[in-house]
Amino acid sequence: MISQALRDARRYEEIIERTISEPQRPLFHLTPRCGWMNDPNGFSVYDGQYHLFYQYYPYYSKWGPMHWGHAVSRDLLHWDYLPAALAPDQLYDQRGCFSGSAITMEDGRQLLMYTSVGETTDPAGYDSGIQTQSIAIGDGEEYEKYEGNPVITEADLPPGFSRYDFRDPKMWRASDGTYIVAVANRADDGGGKILLFRSNDLLHWKYWKVLAANHGRFGSMWECPDFFGLDGRHVLLVSPQDMHPSGFEYHNGNGTLCLIGDYDEETGTFTEAANQAIDYGIDFYAPQTILTPDGRRIMIGWMQNWDACAIRAPSEKWAGQMSVPRELSIKNGRLYQTPCRELESLYRDEVIHKNVKVGGFDEVALPGVFGRCLDLTVHVRPADPEKVFHRFSIRFAQKDPLRTGVSFRPHEQTVKIDRKYSGSCRAIVHQRRCLVRGSDNGEITFRLILDRYSVEIFINDGEYAMTAAIFTDLEAERICFFADGDAVIDVEKHRIG
Ligand code: FRU
Repeated sequence: MISQALRDARRYEEIIERTISEPQRPLFHLTPRCGWMNDPNGFSVYDGQYHLFYQYYPYYSKWGPMHWGHAVSRDLLHWDYLPAALAPDQLYDQRGCFSGSAITMEDGRQLLMYTSVGETTDPAGYDSGIQTQSIAIGDGEEYEKYEGNPVITEADLPPGFSRYDFRDPKMWRASDGTYIVAVANRADDGGGKILLFRSNDLLHWKYWKVLAANHGRFGSMWECPDFFGLDGRHVLLVSPQDMHPSGFEYHNGNGTLCLIGDYDEETGTFTEAANQAIDYGIDFYAPQTILTPDGRRIMIGWMQNWDACAIRAPSEKWAGQMSVPRELSIKNGRLYQTPCRELESLYRDEVIHKNVKVGGFDEVALPGVFGRCLDLTVHVRPADPEKVFHRFSIRFAQKDPLRTGVSFRPHEQTVKIDRKYSGSCRAIVHQRRCLVRGSDNGEITFRLILDRYSVEIFINDGEYAMTAAIFTDLEAERICFFADGDAVIDVEKHRIG
């Protein structure tokens, strides 16, 4: 039985979707069918397709009572909308169906676990809603909420944990065939912790243990955990709130954190070895991953930051985009990210320029190198290794006075993204810097993935990623290069279409 709330959302999204024209959306990044989108949810491979659900408020381009939107794809880049999957229509989730994950059951059905937010007033008078974990089971399109919901509640928590900040379940199957779910919690000490629960049948869950905790580091509440093996190590991705910057890491307040370490599956013990931000730009949060049938670990994130949402007016027909799906690997103890290789199937042309001199303060534009939907790789080096320029920049989405830039200062080993002139008229963060270790010799490789309303920069084959949403007039297509000393570049550009 479909509830009235879900039926209303479906009718509404179908009507509004028709009023959004093709260029009003990105070409290959997923946006909400209409209204508001935040975190990716239930990212999964099910019945021969990729499924991506998302935090969704269809009625306005602002966060509201959360639904789950739904889209499917065969190549991770062309997405077809399916009807909204979940609406807040039960007593236990009347304040919203928050983030969660998906898994295939033994009988072939798909099971979604989400955070159900119910009505309450907490003792401090801050009305945050009791958060429990609930289940919906379906066939890839229609999902029915389980009559035993919620399946994990405060009654399952040991003392010292919060029932108000208890969310974002991420499930996986252990090698012994049982199921584990990682859920974020803000403990009484104010710190973020990731808790593990176990189950034999996906319906009945028992608290197991704390997988990881912030111990006074990395912000307060941790949101949206994901946990998986990668290249012989284990990786915990979380999105902490209220982070303090540390050197060049964690500048985003609501930030992203990647912990790399080792996991003893028997005892559920995760031993951290290294930490880093996942993305060093402005707009990236709450990522989720899948393992593809051909064995790649692919991550997708919300290409927006809570603190910079004002870049998009709520009167627009949609707000929020997903990042390009990114293939993950570990190299030299760090998380590397590269755009999924499916992107190459969208290439429409190839323009190559080799050994181009850039310098003398003049902007250099190259034949065939322009546009707003493209994959652009630029390898930069000094003309004379003894005389390294101070600054090299790529400007794109440019049509005076509009532009966004990425600039490289080898003497500081930094890369900066700057969208100040991208057309934004809001007092929000427009710049971020990233420390690129070992770049003081003036050599660096940028790969820019441009879609109509975003830029994702991958540095040195994905060692660092920097992402930003830009809402620049689509006529701003110019790309140019600049250096204050003599630089030499190789450029490879593919139009995406
Ligand atoms: C992260 C988050 C999650 C929560 C969801 C609500 O962006 O705050 O913790 O489940 O968004 O929309």
